[in-house]
Amino acid sequence: MPDTAPSPHLPVRVPLATQELGIWKSLSAVRSNVLAVIPEVATRMPIVSGNTGKRWHMIMDPDAIRTMMLERLDNYPKSIVTKNLLRPAIGESLFIAEGSHWRWQRRTAAPVFTHRNMLTLAPVMTRAAERCAARLANSTGHAVNLLDEMVATTFDVIGEVTFSGDGTFDRAAVHSAIEDYISDAGKVSLLDILGAPDWVPRPGRMVSGKAMRHAKAMADRGIEARAAQGPSKIPDLLDLLLAGSDPETDRKMTTAELRDNLLTFIVAGHETTALSLAWSLYLVAFDPKVQDRAREEAQGVLQGRAATGDDVAALPYIRSIIDEALRLYPPAGMVSRTAMADDELCGQDIRKGDTCIIPIYALHRSHLLWDAPDTFDPDRFANRKEIKRYAYLPFGDGPRICIGASFALQEAVIILATLLARFRFEAVPGHAPDPVMILTLRPQGGVWLTVTPL
Ligand code: HEM
Repeated sequence: MPDTAPSPHLPVRVPLATQELGIWKSLSAVRSNVLAVIPEVATRMPIVSGNTGKRWHMIMDPDAIRTMMLERLDNYPKSIVTKNLLRPAIGESLFIAEGSHWRWQRRTAAPVFTHRNMLTLAPVMTRAAERCAARLANSTGHAVNLLDEMVATTFDVIGEVTFSGDGTFDRAAVHSAIEDYISDAGKVSLLDILGAPDWVPRPGRMVSGKAMRHAKAMADRGIEARAAQGPSKIPDLLDLLLAGSDPETDRKMTTAELRDNLLTFIVAGHETTALSLAWSLYLVAFDPKVQDRAREEAQGVLQGRAATGDDVAALPYIRSIIDEALRLYPPAGMVSRTAMADDELCGQDIRKGDTCIIPIYALHRSHLLWDAPDTFDPDRFANRKEIKRYAYLPFGDGPRICIGASFALQEAVIILATLLARFRFEAVPGHAPDPVMILTLRPQGGVWLTVTPL
């Protein structure tokens, strides 16, 4: 009998399905946790196929995933459901567009995310880490929900690097419009992925459309004001994107295209990074030996100051904790594609129109690919070359790999190193989080830790 029960020796896990779920059970499972529809056998097999009103396949084989994400990219566009869900919020932006409309936007945005530009943005991350440390210093000896803290800290960063210095831009309003929209629309579309018939009641469709329209109008005004006033002294993501153009056609983004992409950066980049940090903190509290070793590294490098972009390369153990947190709790726990042509993957017939899911959560815990997959062991990443390509996909891969991966990793290392150098984090007994995926894989209930300044 496969074991997915909670264990004191293993960090928390999603209880994967051990029996085939009928359509009704799948629907009720998916409402509470999308990952609970992943069969446990997905951690032991290269492919699992089924039919819940729609034909679907879950693909856990690195070579087949490479085919989908690299070799036959155009045959496996992002699933219609994903696009329909996000389009009202972020338009035909980089995240959603396909074919030539995606290509020119990617070519235009790629230079924004160079290593040099990331280093220029690093002081924003250092200041956000300082502010977070100052808040935590006031909660000495108390249990703190580090999930909320990390969401506040990463929003601090993304707000600052998108619409910085614009007094008229209400970041909190944009933040809540996006959050509300995604959480309403997310519930709708997951039912659609599994092929629920149209008459199945969907929760509150599009209740937050008005707030989203307001947020877009505000973003447009912010972009136009910046375009008129010229770049800030230290260019942020908006300045860089305003200055960019497609190197092949010279095409520049319109205000609406700039806005959709900036909102995409906020949607795709802020909560995901907060989750990586919240899960990393949960894990170092779960394993105090790892925490001590990480603290030694951080204190040795930082000598009392907050981490900067230049410190990141000297903090490899902190980085491997984040890598391992992204393996055990990938914020994008599954991605899905729609097959545009008949194909064969892992010996299984794929028909045009089939939904092809890459359950990153199950891939990262596959017994075929990882030793003791449910164990927390940052040393797996001591030698990155040993990690099999397409077996580890927290940021996806191929041409549509996450454009913000180095931004997110730099931010996570700066914040985690700064906090570990200054505080001890201890688990609060009986308050382990529940890994629940709605659109992203969140620690439900929060990450409650006792924080002690050192
Ligand atoms: C730890 C944090 C992050 C994680 C785990 C993450 C994960 C992902 C994944 C898995 C994809 C590919 C989705 C697919 O193939 O279906 C993706 C794409 C994307 N991400 Fe991220 N992301 C993170 C941070 C960021 C940040 C900070 C930004 C921007 C500032 C960002 C912007 C994007 C964009 C624009 C795409 C679409 C790229 C394209 O299709 O060309 N992400 N991300």
